[in-house]
Amino acid sequence: MKKITDNLALLYSAVELRQRVEELGSIISKKYENKDPIFIDVLNGSFIFMADLLRSISIECEMDFIKVRSYSGQKSSGTIQLLKDVSADVKDRNIILVEDIVDTGLTIKFLRKRLFGSSPKSIAVATLLYKPSVAKIDFDIDYIGFEIPQEYVVGYGLDYEQKLRHLDSLYCIKVN
Ligand code: IMP
Repeated sequence: MKKITDNLALLYSAVELRQRVEELGSIISKKYENKDPIFIDVLNGSFIFMADLLRSISIECEMDFIKVRSYSGQKSSGTIQLLKDVSADVKDRNIILVEDIVDTGLTIKFLRKRLFGSSPKSIAVATLLYKPSVAKIDFDIDYIGFEIPQEYVVGYGLDYEQKLRHLDSLYCIKVN
């Protein structure tokens, strides 16, 4: 019987991911020196990226989590549901929103708008992956790990129907 893992094609290895995340950590650390940033992790998909990114940060910082749902299967549902809000007071803070992937851009648009409502000093976005051919956004993504083609990807925190998040590399998945 065919297993779901038979449908995977390697996109970035664990070593390539680690190198790029360390580069991002170093760039962000330089930029946010003495700015006491707060990293906000967008659950669930970015939990591994966030853990690795934070361990590459060499300046003082804080962190928090926010959780939304937008996808079912391989399709964006087109609506965003807030499942868990941030706990920290982000007024006058320098926020770095940490996303696994910007696909249509709906999620990041929703989160920026919502967090701007709490009067932070600034909001930047760090995403591991960016699908430029799909994203419809009218603002810049500040930190991008990799630009990728319009493929569905899994591993390194990203799921297919809640599975495959545990894989340490990133794969394209073909189902059907
Ligand atoms: P967007 O709102 O369309 O930008 O999608 C954002 C969310 O959809 C991401 O945070 C992911 O959780 C999920 N997502 C989008 N594309 C993929 C993919 O290729 N693999 C796994 N999850 C994805």
